[in-house]
Amino acid sequence: MLKKSLAGLAAGALLLSAAACGSGDDGGGGSEDGLVVGFAQVGAESAWRTANSQSVQDSAAADDRIADLQFVDAQQEQEKQIDAIRNFITQKVDVIVLAPVVETGWTDILTEAEQAGIPVILADRGIEAADEDLYVTRIGSDFVEEGRKAGTWTTQEFAENDTTRILQLEGTVGAAPANDRNEGFFEVLDSEGFSYELVDSQSGDFTAEGGKAVMETFISTHGLDDIDLLYAHNDEMGLGAIQAIEEAGYVPGEDIKIIIVDGSKAGFQAGVEGKLNYIVECNPAFGDQLMDLVVQVANGEDVEKFTPVEEGAFTADQFEAELPNRQF
Ligand code: AHR
Repeated sequence: MLKKSLAGLAAGALLLSAAACGSGDDGGGGSEDGLVVGFAQVGAESAWRTANSQSVQDSAAADDRIADLQFVDAQQEQEKQIDAIRNFITQKVDVIVLAPVVETGWTDILTEAEQAGIPVILADRGIEAADEDLYVTRIGSDFVEEGRKAGTWTTQEFAENDTTRILQLEGTVGAAPANDRNEGFFEVLDSEGFSYELVDSQSGDFTAEGGKAVMETFISTHGLDDIDLLYAHNDEMGLGAIQAIEEAGYVPGEDIKIIIVDGSKAGFQAGVEGKLNYIVECNPAFGDQLMDLVVQVANGEDVEKFTPVEEGAFTADQFEAELPNRQF
């Protein structure tokens, strides 16, 4: 199979192969080898992202309906994703899958895809509502709902507090999960009439290094003695922050309660060690569902505008039992 012989080659080689063997001028629906799919992935900034890339690549490789998945790691840069999409258009792939690093700035390139007659599926993150006609469907998490779960736990955990003092580690500026996890969290706090003070909120870019650096700044600016809660928009930033908290002589999970979002093995392990208190799950394993959507979209079938993936949330008493189940 074409897809098997191409597995593991670099993106450039894949693009050349696609030019020689790709979808041709059949106007969609793929060649007799199957569909050629271009996937512009965000990067490799987190365990979640690595697991998501693996899920999509594994599902494409195992699916006889897919001839070739052209995978591009955009290293968290929108310009690299735009270049990748332009390449996919030139190669006349059958379907473009985009995991947009940020929500805005897609109008021009997605219009180019539309004019070339190539359907676009968003995987994981969304884009601004003004551009919703430029993609067919999105599969991924309901990030606002994830934020609401974090908010609900906060109102329950600190129900006896007069005012709860909060630090927030935001994801990449302008990214859907950063915007939405913030929105859902404060929506619940405000609608519950919960008394809180957002002491500081800054982006750690969804990385451990970013989370640690921002937490060090938080500690030197505010101290931790009067802080109740750290809400980190992903595991890596939370784990980086835990390091900074420990290095400053505080006890994470006790001196300051911590919420993380994702639910990696490393996150759960830190939870089992008592270093954090609540985990909101974000599920990266939607490769099989994505391949079904790719085929349906290539065939011009009607699909839902949004397919949410299943995910839960875990309190401290559940961490140990759940750890062996974690897949990434
Ligand atoms: O878009 C999903 C988010 O992106 C995950 O929560 C995070 O870990 C990743 O960087």
